[in-house]
Amino acid sequence: MTEHKPTWDYNNPVTGETMPSPFFFDPGIFAEERERIFMRCWHLVGHVNEFAEPGSFVVQDIFEQSVIVLAGQDGTISAMHNACRHRGNRLLNQRRGKIGAVLRCPYHSWCYNLDGALRAAPRAENLPGFDRAEMGLKPVRLEIFASWVFVTLDDAAPPLAEIAAGAEDEMRRFQPDLDNVELVEETDVIVEANWKVIQENSIEGYHFDLSGPVHKELAALIDFSGYRLTPHGQWWTYIGPPTAGATQAYGVKLEGATWQTDWFFNIGIFPNTTFYSFPYTDMIGTFIMIPLGPEKSLLRFGYYAPKGRPVPEVTKAAIEWMNTQLGPEDIELNVSNQKGLHSRGFYSGRYLIDADRPHESEHLVHHFHKLCYQAISE
Ligand code: FES
Ligand SMILES: [Fe+2]
Repeated sequence: MTEHKPTWDYNNPVTGETMPSPFFFDPGIFAEERERIFMRCWHLVGHVNEFAEPGSFVVQDIFEQSVIVLAGQDGTISAMHNACRHRGNRLLNQRRGKIGAVLRCPYHSWCYNLDGALRAAPRAENLPGFDRAEMGLKPVRLEIFASWVFVTLDDAAPPLAEIAAGAEDEMRRFQPDLDNVELVEETDVIVEANWKVIQENSIEGYHFDLSGPVHKELAALIDFSGYRLTPHGQWWTYIGPPTAGATQAYGVKLEGATWQTDWFFNIGIFPNTTFYSFPYTDMIGTFIMIPLGPEKSLLRFGYYAPKGRPVPEVTKAAIEWMNTQLGPEDIELNVSNQKGLHSRGFYSGRYLIDADRPHESEHLVHHFHKLCYQAISE
């Protein structure tokens, strides 16, 4: 741990220096991010359609905290702490699934209704001063934003509609089936890198044409002269129009396929949620970097496709390509970047910010770093 937290002057993005390297590995700084960013922000859990059936649940872990998001008998989606009120046992240990009418603790069989109310506690009828009505699971704050379910551990967090005002309109412009998608696949990957190293990589176009071969394949589908990365306070977009005349994508012919958009569309909400649609794919992707430690993150890829129509071959190929090609190519950069940050030969670098070449500029990286710095310093 550093004895004195390094400071960073973020006021001159073009001529100034990048966020200093200790911000990417120092345990003290990471502990502050945990408290001041992740214990206060909104966490993406999943899509409302994952909760269509009573008893459907998703478990969302936030560091050592664990939250159950559960569909009730009447269709209401509620969130509650994943800890039995008897002696604190964790109730559900699976990421997602479906239970019957009762949430039963596997330890001493206390049973809760799907809204978290305690329904029965064996042998508690003669317990003095035991009020069942007061022993329900502790609720967690939940919001539905643009058909996505989020939770926060902070009762004072501003609502998402305020944090991301305008974001939903952008999503609907590029993702016409936003309300109508279902989960196809979720892939978790552990990456030995700080969560910000992963985020940075995804919000700049500078490396697209300059890093690995898979990036060049994606870049070929995008007209980079029109690529724009736009900060809007706590949310941002990075969007590019298609190149003209594509007949295939991700190694598959486009003929007969359906898609959400032919654009390269991405929207991020601070700190760690991204929604995207890649060109010619009939899916909405989620991309979340979940911090596990100063230099360890869980990278979660969610793939959601429109209900009631077959997933086009192009989309299936894109998911496979993302999981086995683009993802690994970026992860390799993340891990190598993380190692380099420890070097005695590096402390701070320079952002490539160029108003005349906005498609390659790193202004969004600076914007993101500034949000992180302000959250823990101001
Ligand atoms: S800890 Fe849950 S019933 Fe005892
Ligand atoms: Fe990349």
